[in-house]
This record gives sequence, C-alpha cells and structure tokens, in this order.
Amino acid sequence: LTGHITLDFGYKNTGSTKSAITFLDGEKGILKYRGYDIEELAEKSTFLEVAYLLIYGDLPTISQLEGFQANITKHTLIHEDMKKFLDGYPSKSHPMAQLASLVCSLSTFYPESLQANSSPETMDQTMIKLLAKFPTIVSFIYKKSLGHPLIYPKNKYDYVSNYLNMTFGQRTEEVEIDPVVVKAMNTLLILHADHEQNCSASTVRMVGSSDCNLYASVSAGIAALWGPLHGGANQAVIEMLERIKEDGGDTEKWINKAKDKNDPFRMMGFGHRVYKNFDPRAKIIKKACDDILEKLGINDPVLEIAKKLEEAALSDPYFVERKLYPNVDFYSGIIYRALGFPTDMFTVLFALGRLPGWIAQWKEMHENREPIGRPRQIYVGHTNREFTAPENR
Ligand code: SDX
Repeated sequence: LTGHITLDFGYKNTGSTKSAITFLDGEKGILKYRGYDIEELAEKSTFLEVAYLLIYGDLPTISQLEGFQANITKHTLIHEDMKKFLDGYPSKSHPMAQLASLVCSLSTFYPESLQANSSPETMDQTMIKLLAKFPTIVSFIYKKSLGHPLIYPKNKYDYVSNYLNMTFGQRTEEVEIDPVVVKAMNTLLILHADHEQNCSASTVRMVGSSDCNLYASVSAGIAALWGPLHGGANQAVIEMLERIKEDGGDTEKWINKAKDKNDPFRMMGFGHRVYKNFDPRAKIIKKACDDILEKLGINDPVLEIAKKLEEAALSDPYFVERKLYPNVDFYSGIIYRALGFPTDMFTVLFALGRLPGWIAQWKEMHENREPIGRPRQIYVGHTNREFTAPENR
C-alpha cells in the first residue's frame, strides 16, 4: 500500500448511544426536544416546564408542574458548610472552576446519591436536589465575587424568578424583577437546555457510565463546557467583539485574521460540528437580542459590530465554503450583558440552562443500562524495544 492515508480520529461523528431526548438535523437547522420544535418551546414554554419535558419525556400537566416546582422549592437551600468553600477561593477565581467543585461537593452532603443502582425514588430525589440547588450555588458564587451579602432562595418565586432574585436582589430591600428579564432568561435557558451528544453531555454520560454519582458526573460536564471551543465561547465572543470595538470596529480586518491559517485568531461564535447551515437557536437569540435591548432601552455598540461581522462573514467564500454560521454563543453574550451579568458568568449561565439536559441524558443512560464507556484506539507507537541501563541511553 503506497501513499499516505490520513485517518480522522476523535469523537467527530461517532454514534455513541441511542437517545430519545433531542433531535438535531444539521443540514436543515432543526432542533427538537422530545419531538417539540425549539421555536415553539422558546416562545410558549417556561424553562422549568422544558426541564420536566427533557427529564420525564412529556410536557407536564398543571398538577405535575406544580408538584415539580413544589418539590424543587423544598430543596433550594444548600448546606451552610458549603459557604466555607466560597471563602476559600481567591477573589478573582473563575466561576466555572468554583461551580464544578461545588457541584461535585454536593455528593459529600448527600451520601444517598453515591449509591450505585439506587432506587428510582432516590435517583429522582438526587436529580430534584441538583435542579433545586444549582441556581442557589450559581447566585452565591456571583454574590461572593462582588463581596455582596448572599441572597437566599424564597419560596414565593418560580424557578427562574428565584434565580434572578438571588442574583440581582438586595438584602436591604425587595427588588422588583422585570417581567421582560424573566421572559428573556426563560428563553435563553430553554435554548441551552439540551443539544444531544455535545462535548459536555457526552462527558456526563462517559463519567456516569462508570456508575459515578450524578453530582460528580455533572461536575465533569461543567468542566467540559468551560472550554472556549464549547460553552466557553459565549464569554470569548464578547471578549472578541470588545477587542474589535477597541480596534476601531474594522470587521474586514478581523475576518481576514480568522481566515489566516498562520493567525491563531478564530471567529468565536461561528461554526458548529453539526449545524452546517444555520443554528436555529442563533436565529431566535438574534431576534430576542433586538427585542430585549429595545425594551430595556439599551444601545450596545458590540451588537452593531456583531451584525456587521455576521453580514461580512456570510458573504465571504472562506466562511461559506466551510459552512461557518453564527452558533448559539454568538449573540447570547450580548443579551446576558444587557441583563446585567458580567462576562465571566456567561458560561455559568450556559451550564444553568444545560443542567436539565445533562440530568436527562444521565438518567436515560442508566435506564437503558448502558455499559461503561471504553473506546479503543489505533496504536501508532513503538513495537518492541529492549530495556537499556541509563548509562547506555
Ligand atoms: C457550542 O456540539 C454542540 O452541540 C455544541 C453546542 C451545544 O449546544 O452544546 O452547540 C455549543 O459549543 C457551540 C460552538 C461554540 N464554539 C465556538 O464558537 C468556537 C469557534 N468555533 C470553532 O472553533 C469550531 O467551529 C467548532 C469547534 C465549533 C467546530 O469545529 P469542527 O467542526 O471541528 O470544525 P473544524 O475545527 O474542523 O473546522 C473546519 C474548518 C477548518 O478550516 P480548514 O482546516 O478546513 O481550512 O473551518 C475552520 C477551521 O479552521 N473553522 C473556523 C472556525 N471554525 C471552524 N475558522 C475560523 N473561525 C472559526 N470559528
């Protein structure tokens, strides 16, 4: 056999499992959760309702949703000792580092979560506790980063409003939660809720396949999501847009940098492993961006740069040939910023949205009794070598 065969490796197109949770069609830009179009869910549903759909397989009845919310409301507090972890991190620690370790630490407070093959009831309560405590952990990390008093969950709020109150609320007075912000957060979290076998969901499945507990499996998913090629892109997009703005807004210059193979710069928020046409979530978020900034009366110059960048890229042969279109991360950061979140919290918000998807995938893997993940390799190293003493090497 002559010539050079280049083999493509890695999980680029592997059928790693069978799943009934999310359907993607990358060519047609279709995304469905349990058979429901993402466009319809984003417009008509709430994040908690979609979380129920992903985890249990059907949209809940009114009493099922009320019971789900009530069960979550009972478990929103975290053990007071968990606050000691927050005191131990350096002040500028990245929130994703804190989130991954705090979520894993939940397993130390709830030993029942460690039981392999636990009963469906125990498994369900473990999932409910994670859904309930995650927003509290996320808002405690944020408040601590500001040096502000922690705001505790309040039973009167629904899931998303409770998170917003813990994040933007004040100890000294009740803060009105803007319904525009609540709707925007529900939409953003719904759009991030699951995305079949993406890097972080596959990580949760792989770690969970060893019968590792849900908290530690999701903690591994948080670490995978942190990468700038995955969920970390939403933070990298805003940093990129800011750089372009500081540099005078010359989008052509930065498009050319992205095309230059000798330049490490990549157009963050562009391209996708599966969507080779458009990311349906990006279309919804782009429209939401315009609506929310108008309703909140915000004129963010990076939005104009983002639109100029998108327009230029979509007519540039390099991007068109490689089917590089804006993905879910391209516009989401602009909305998060408009809602008052700092840049380093953006990927944490992605994790907050993706949590029900990770839980649903971990649950499905256990229900299908999938074996421990153990891929093989093509060995390309040395064959036989004789050991030699150090003085003879
Ligand atoms: C998410 O998988 C999911 O579902 C993820 C996600 C989810 O909901 O879970 O959708 C969330 O992670 C969205 C993606 C966020 N990441 C970014 O925006 C980072 C920037 N994008 C890329 O790095 C890249 O597009 C990926 C990682 C998203 C996809 O990478 P692929 O499919 O492995 O594509 P590739 O790296 O093989 O690129 C193919 C070509 C290459 O050029 P050639 O070698 O063919 O000449 O396209 C080029 C790449 O250099 N390319 C880019 C580019 N993305 C790909 N060139 C410039 N800018 C980019 N952003």
